[in-house]
Amino acid sequence: MRMLSVRSSLLAELEQDCLLDEPDRLLQRIEAQDRLDVHFPQDSDAGSGTEAALECRARAIQARLDAVNRELYEGIRSGIQQGAGQDRVLAWSRASGHEEGVAGRDGSDRYDYLDELVSGILQLDQPDDEAIEVAPEMVFYQPTPARVIFDLIERLELTGQDVLIDLGSGLGHLPLLAAICTSASCIGIELEAVYVDCAQSSAHALNLTRVTFIQQDARAADLSSGTVFYLYTPFTGTILRAVLDSLRHEASSRAIRVCAFGPCVQAVATEPWLQAIEPQEAHRAAIFRSV
Ligand SMILES: C[S@@+](CC[C@H](N)C(=O)[O-])C[C@H]1O[C@@H](n2cnc3c(N)ncnc32)[C@H](O)[C@@H]1O
Repeated sequence: MRMLSVRSSLLAELEQDCLLDEPDRLLQRIEAQDRLDVHFPQDSDAGSGTEAALECRARAIQARLDAVNRELYEGIRSGIQQGAGQDRVLAWSRASGHEEGVAGRDGSDRYDYLDELVSGILQLDQPDDEAIEVAPEMVFYQPTPARVIFDLIERLELTGQDVLIDLGSGLGHLPLLAAICTSASCIGIELEAVYVDCAQSSAHALNLTRVTFIQQDARAADLSSGTVFYLYTPFTGTILRAVLDSLRHEASSRAIRVCAFGPCVQAVATEPWLQAIEPQEAHRAAIFRSV
């Protein structure tokens, strides 16, 4: 009986909360949707009578909140398609940074509502990657959290002369967002063709012309145009060694920056030809410059 009244009051509260209909209240909407998911799990059996009526109201609220989210995402996508999305996307990341700090609400590098926003903006197809077998020393796909990406983009201060190369780019979150938010050219090198296709489709749908995705082993990639390189622990051992040697070769003829996130930071930090530009923090990407 008490459970029924908790669920009923949650529905009444959300039905009356008009602020949730304001497109910019994304965080509040996602929190409301999380609460609905807890009390009205998607796969629950609605039953009949009072229970079914509550379920029906919950689904109606979900649909209403989804519609406002779609409106927000479409507005931002349309700005990007017209070449004017930079300010709006960066404004979101800055506002969320002020709310929560770069580490997110609990001080970790976890995914949060900025990732929901990025997912709504990029609208990457769900790749059919079940058949992918990860070879020894290669790391399975996992995206860098959006909060970490925006923080990195801000700190890099990329210009139109920069070429950012993500080595093992997966679905391309960093090259896509950097192409949206900066004037740099961006390249994603990724071994798995299904990820490359998804990333390229997203770039195409958003009219992004300064980002390219290449299906290739990072060891064979042409790194000669890059000024900034990114590694979210895409590989380990001898593969990482070979790619770091290629980067060192590039650095022998020009200054480059190498950014790293995740466990590979420790290996990158021991390269004698690289120097960290700041003390390392676990929840931020580390930036090194060649010396
Ligand atoms: C941890 S994910 C990082 C994805 C992306 N950089 C990001 O931060 O969102 C590592 C990616 O590296 C790719 N990868 C692994 N070995 C590779 C190699 N030898 N050459 C190119 N890509 C590789 C994997 O397929 C995977 O998509």
